[in-house]
Amino acid sequence: MAALQDRVEGLRGDFEERARRIASAKDLEDLRNLFFSRKKGLVTGLFEEMKSLAPEEKREAGRLVNELKDILQGRLEELEKGLPKKEIRVGGSVEARSEVKGKTTLLSPDDLTLPGLRRYVGAPHPVILFQQEIESIFRGMGFTVEEGPEVETDYYNFEALNFPPHHPARDQWDTLFIKGDLLLRTHTSPVQIRVMQRAKPPIRIICPGRVFRHETPDPTHLPMFYQVEGLVVDEGVTFAHLKGTLEHFIRALFGERIKVRFRPSFFPFTEPSAEVDIECIVCGGRDAACRVCGGTGWKEILGSGMVHPQVLKNVSIDPERYSGWAFGLGIERTAMFSYGISEMRHFYENDLRFIRQFQLK
Ligand code: DAH
Repeated sequence: MAALQDRVEGLRGDFEERARRIASAKDLEDLRNLFFSRKKGLVTGLFEEMKSLAPEEKREAGRLVNELKDILQGRLEELEKGLPKKEIRVGGSVEARSEVKGKTTLLSPDDLTLPGLRRYVGAPHPVILFQQEIESIFRGMGFTVEEGPEVETDYYNFEALNFPPHHPARDQWDTLFIKGDLLLRTHTSPVQIRVMQRAKPPIRIICPGRVFRHETPDPTHLPMFYQVEGLVVDEGVTFAHLKGTLEHFIRALFGERIKVRFRPSFFPFTEPSAEVDIECIVCGGRDAACRVCGGTGWKEILGSGMVHPQVLKNVSIDPERYSGWAFGLGIERTAMFSYGISEMRHFYENDLRFIRQFQLK
């Protein structure tokens, strides 16, 4: 054991002697390797030797060698702290020191020859950009933006919107049920009900948000997507207001010259109801085999109608005095049409080559 003690002390002395000559990170690394490298390190070697000692000697030997290890590793840390720093960051700029033959000179922080710091700046998601564009058109017409919960009750998602229980129209909205009365909202229309319950006319709102349906993903369907809902309720509101406002909105989004048409449709919460088509901006109706419009020359972009009197009654607004109109539009669908994107899943694959194309200039 005395022999081991001598060797431990010898190694300490040797270490200190070498430590005095350290001038660079490389010297320090060499010293660390000399004592601790996994195969040939001097301290590592002592641990190896201990394996062949008799059990009664192992205890004391272990104590000595572990103590040496702790001391030397502590010293290595101290030595590392004492080394000249290569790079010091000062408020975002880099002050560089150059080491020439052990002498350290400080380069000016304004040294224009230094490489710049490139930071990756993120960009709003294309769906959000499109949503903001829609919001800004409606804000310009005096609408405010409202939001509602994504987990809804059957009452808000269906019943208050004039879908009686078991009504076949519910089948059009493939619903993801949670538990009991709870479901994931299939459209943004329940926000209309929530707003009308707490605000009295005049009401002029749009409600953007995520909606969920039991769909298998394909190029034009996803189980989660975004909609924007719009609602106006006041005295004397007519279908002419609906038409004028939606035409203005569509022209602001797609350009002054776009052709728009209203087609009769059905929704339980509006009467009469209309779907709105715009001229196919890909083929202009000139390609019978167009993949976007199927050769019809028209593309449906939203559903709309006059708020059903029963819906107004459900929120205690008197349908004899007030009337309203509403619409709902799919954001991805509209963005796809506007940008000429053929695959809805691109929006959610997080491929930066796709996402970056929509960065604001
Ligand atoms: N909620 C409908 C849907 O998801 C869209 C819609 C149609 C909303 C007509 C409306 C409306 O407000 O008036 O398909």
